[in-house]
Amino acid sequence: MADSPVTITTPGSDETASAGPSPQEQKQMEQAYAQMKRKMAMEEIGRNIKHKIMVLSGKGGVGKSTVSTGLALSLAQQGHAVGILDIDITGPNVPKMMGLDGRRLHVENKRIHPAQGHLGVKVISMAFLLEDEDTPVVWRGPIKLGAIQQFIGDVEWGELDYLIIDFPPGTSDEPLTVAQSLPDIDGMVIVTTPQQVALLDSRKSITFSESLKVPVIGVVENMSGFTVSGTASPSSELSVAAPGGKTITTTTDEEGNFSFTLDIFKEGGGKSTAEEFGVPFLGALPFDPGFVRGGDDGVHRIVSEPDGPSAIAFSKVVAAIQDQLSDGSDGGLEII
Ligand SMILES: Nc1ncnc2c1ncn2[C@@H]1O[C@H](COP(=O)(O)OP(=O)(O)O)[C@@H](O)[C@H]1O
Ligand SMILES: [Mg+2]
Repeated sequence: MADSPVTITTPGSDETASAGPSPQEQKQMEQAYAQMKRKMAMEEIGRNIKHKIMVLSGKGGVGKSTVSTGLALSLAQQGHAVGILDIDITGPNVPKMMGLDGRRLHVENKRIHPAQGHLGVKVISMAFLLEDEDTPVVWRGPIKLGAIQQFIGDVEWGELDYLIIDFPPGTSDEPLTVAQSLPDIDGMVIVTTPQQVALLDSRKSITFSESLKVPVIGVVENMSGFTVSGTASPSSELSVAAPGGKTITTTTDEEGNFSFTLDIFKEGGGKSTAEEFGVPFLGALPFDPGFVRGGDDGVHRIVSEPDGPSAIAFSKVVAAIQDQLSDGSDGGLEII
């Protein structure tokens, strides 16, 4: 066997065969193999998860994470198997909203296992990687995007009906990486508030969807109005000074109950943006201080008040999304 063209180099041996791969080639082969395995894992994840929905906005603070967690919980309320993938490394608050604050990654057999939050929703968050949540993570672009790819490929989601993907604000590299890595994304839900600036930014998100080649499922208007309820004299007329110099008049019922909605910002902005771009309007979510409390104490509004006005508003948005997903063979509307 002295003339065998193949020589196997064992670790520790400094004998290098002329026909064997050089250390550099070996490394390249290993990288290619790891990449192939990850691609296969992504494809399997793609098959095991029926619907994948990205939640985006042009601007931070419009309630993207509140909407992502709310949609996930509302779908779970319907009995679906749901997961949330929280891509936001710089400001990850999904774990907090899902009652999973302080969790760390659970790895078994080299696979990452999601944590289970409220209503059994599976959660994977970049926050699970943080040593200390007060220390912001500053990851350079390529490392960050590599970590995202690894996250998607290495998570053991099991079978899911819906995966909701929450992003950092803006039209950055993260959605592009996810769109290129995860096959068959149904589309994106764009979150906006009625304010003009947030609206302008959501227009950017819609245009961005063209470059991602991911369909827009529709626009959700968050913090849309504030519902005031109370009691006064039965069957009487009430007059209330509303923002913007408007006056709202309403009448109480026979028991004296009244309820009306104040438009704190501006009315119907999300709807008109959706109309302007020819994408569906999925509905409005009220301004509800319970969301802020839920973000602080870890009990989401949908969990603390499962039949309340906010949970009902979410279930309507979910129904509108499901309508879009069943409309056409490959999900929502695609703008190209
Ligand atoms: N509909 C709402 N009513 C009241 N507060 C809200 C509502 N939506 C979001 N918030 C609050 O606004 C803040 C930002 O929301 P968040 O979901 O973290 O936004 P984003 O993910 O877009 O940065 C949080 O304190 C959240 O509790
Ligand atoms: Mg967020």
